[in-house]
Amino acid sequence: MYICICNAVTERQVHAAVDAGATTLSDLQFELGVASCCGCCAETAQEYLPGGRCSSVCQTQSVTVEVNTSAPVVGGAGSAANSFPIRLVAAA
Ligand code: FES
Repeated sequence: MYICICNAVTERQVHAAVDAGATTLSDLQFELGVASCCGCCAETAQEYLPGGRCSSVCQTQSVTVEVNTSAPVVGGAGSAANSFPIRLVAAA
């Protein structure tokens, strides 16, 4: 998921920067360029800093879940059309 559209900065990159020691929005701006254009992403990016809503205690993971394989949505039973990715969020 992109955090900063202007600079194509992903959630994964922000997590990595925080894991590497970024503790302020200025750190993220210096390391990744996040919030250095329109600034719309600044508030979201700050949520990934230590103590933020999406800091290291909040992990997201994508999984694929099979849905009702006996009733195909499109394409036939067992096809990729019968599954879709969902995002799981776990917060401590
Ligand atoms: S969305 Fe990040 S600076 Fe514009």
